[in-house]
Amino acid sequence: MNIKKVGVVGCGLMGHGIVQVAAQGGCEVIALESDQAFLDKGLSRVDKSLAKLASKNVEKGKMDQAAADAWVKETRARITGTIQRADVADCDLVIEAIVENLDVKKELFKDLGGICKPETVFASNTSSFPIGEMAEASGRPSRFVGLHFFNPVQLMRLVEVVRTDDTDGAVFEAALEFGKACGKHPVSCKDTPGFVVNRLLVPYMVQAIDMLDRGDASKEDIDAAMQFGCGYPMGPLTLTDYVGLDTTLSILQGWTERYPDEPAFKIPASLERLVAEGKFGRKTGEGYYKWD
Ligand code: CAA
Ligand code: NAD
Repeated sequence: MNIKKVGVVGCGLMGHGIVQVAAQGGCEVIALESDQAFLDKGLSRVDKSLAKLASKNVEKGKMDQAAADAWVKETRARITGTIQRADVADCDLVIEAIVENLDVKKELFKDLGGICKPETVFASNTSSFPIGEMAEASGRPSRFVGLHFFNPVQLMRLVEVVRTDDTDGAVFEAALEFGKACGKHPVSCKDTPGFVVNRLLVPYMVQAIDMLDRGDASKEDIDAAMQFGCGYPMGPLTLTDYVGLDTTLSILQGWTERYPDEPAFKIPASLERLVAEGKFGRKTGEGYYKWD
């Protein structure tokens, strides 16, 4: 199975990065958004990121300016934007990166199941929902995987490739190969809550927020402690702002509904309050910190 043409649904924080790395990997990419303004915003983020990567390659002596310009042009030429779902009908792979809401995702896959050619493989970038439920909704459970990228997609080297009991072996192998073509290190995961990374990372973020809410330490000191004491690139509260408080809350809400007795998934009070106030982190200019 050879994946050459890829549809990416949602061109937000994650989707624009997935569009970009798939194009960098040589695929023809269709970016599908619900709205022209969101599409334009997502594609302009791709333009900025490509320009940044190109100038870094020139600075480091990996490419001269002409080669860097040509690389940007060739990569960008593989990307087309659309707001029509029918435009992804003949893709070999369609990756969903829309809002973390299971009902909205299931509705999308049900619709795509009727639109796309029978061979199209579907993938979800969900942070926390069961891949099997979306696979069922799509009407083609054997051609469904999880492809969970990390933020910022252009820089983080991991992709979690998730299989359900129904995933066809050849489909799973093709998904692993696609991850490698995007320049990522793929790890194989089962369809368990949070897969590998978020099952470890989200409870850690929750513990840090609880510590702040109890008044045990300031947010700056909690972050500095993990950065300088453990060598983490960002402290947990900066990371929560970076991931998005809305996304973090959606993950926890989904888990507490399914696993009400698991203390690691308890929702911190300040997280609920800040989301209710529209403070989603970096993307809205304020979360635990203020951002320019
Ligand atoms: N495209 C291109 N270049 C980019 C970029 C992008 N999107 N974002 C940053 N860069 C460039 C910067 O311009 C910078 O370039 P220079 O070195 O030329 O200045 C370089 O990359 C490094 O960026 P920063 O200066 O911001 O410096 P940094 O060393 O702090 O690196 C980081 C940033 C890679 C994000 C690092 O802080 C980091 O690894 N943070 C942790 C991120 C993390 O844990 N992500 C996972 C979140 S969880 C998740 O994604 C799963 C989920 O489901 C919720
Ligand atoms: P985001 O809000 O930045 O982007 C979502 C985009 O999807 C928006 O641009 C929105 O307009 C678009 N959209 C919504 N419904 C749509 C539809 N029906 N059709 C087409 N486009 C639609 O969110 P995000 O942070 O990029 O998260 C997207 C997904 O990736 C979520 O499932 C999230 O859990 C997962 N994820 C997030 C992170 C993170 O760090 N934020 C990391 C890994 C995975």
